Amino acid sequence: MINKIKELQKEVAQMQAHNAEELEALRIKYLSRKGKIQSLMGEFRNVAADQKREVGMYLNELKEITQNRINELKNSYAGGNAEKTDLDLTRTAYPIELGSRHPLSIVRNEICDIFARLGFSISEGPEIEDDWHVFSALNFPEDHPARDMQDTFFIQHGPDVLLRTHTSSVQSHEMETLDPPIRTVTPGRVYRNEAISYRAHCFFHQVEALYIDKNVSFADLKQALLYFAKEMFSADTKIRLRPSYFPFTEPSAEMDISCNICGGKGCAFCKHTGWVEILGCGMVDPNVLKNANIDPEIYSGFALGMGVERIANLKYQVKDLRLFSENDIRFLKEFESAN
Ligand code: DAH
Repeated sequence: MINKIKELQKEVAQMQAHNAEELEALRIKYLSRKGKIQSLMGEFRNVAADQKREVGMYLNELKEITQNRINELKNSYAGGNAEKTDLDLTRTAYPIELGSRHPLSIVRNEICDIFARLGFSISEGPEIEDDWHVFSALNFPEDHPARDMQDTFFIQHGPDVLLRTHTSSVQSHEMETLDPPIRTVTPGRVYRNEAISYRAHCFFHQVEALYIDKNVSFADLKQALLYFAKEMFSADTKIRLRPSYFPFTEPSAEMDISCNICGGKGCAFCKHTGWVEILGCGMVDPNVLKNANIDPEIYSGFALGMGVERIANLKYQVKDLRLFSENDIRFLKEFESAN
């Protein structure tokens, strides 16, 4: 009996299979209920009692060797071919999961579309800038406290290379390179050295608008703002302008709209005032025009800039600014129907 078992051990150690069918045939031959090992098990009953222990050990060993060899063969012929990878060419390609626009892209496009309807072209500018385009050309004197309002990431000092803190920097480029009339709207990402929280981030998005021509007045600015607010929010939206200060505009103002969450009645979002601030604006300062060699005696213009996240918050009431940049699919899916 032991000899028979040893014979079989040698046999199974040399088993070969090149595909699943051959392997299955081997499994049936040795391990099935009618297989060789099972029939040895049948003979085991007749083994003398004093030999049972030893024969039993050999039998178990045979079973184990056979099973191991079969596993080994399975891996060897599967090795290197498609069955071992995740690639399943029989899997259906449907349903194809469609992505959707990011909420900030939806809002940015909407803002740009409204200004496009007023005849504004769309332009862009660099995110990595020099001091001149971000500050000096826009009438921020060196050491002026207005620079402190925009805590800046400097990449290099002397000459200064920095990340733009506002899209107003693109105004500098446009006035330098284009002859009036200039009528352009500029979306883009901006950077400030802010501690990250639910209401502040070290990068965010703005849209800037610039209009320079002969005889542009504050009334033109006001009308453009009113049109924008009604198109962006709703026809019954009201606007209010509060005097403010920006170095590059004179006079300067901040615009509030009637809170579109409570309809002006007062809620937590508008801090119970019925109004929410959405942008800064003003008439382009004559010094800014001069810096770009545009004659302020002939030309005048208005500019405005707004935060895209702020508008998106008003439209969709996103409570935490960080959601916009975390790329959580569950958040992004909420905006599928807004596309
Ligand atoms: N650049 C300003 C900021 O980031 C916003 C701004 C205010 C832009 C007035 C303008 C403007 O064009 O006229 O806070």
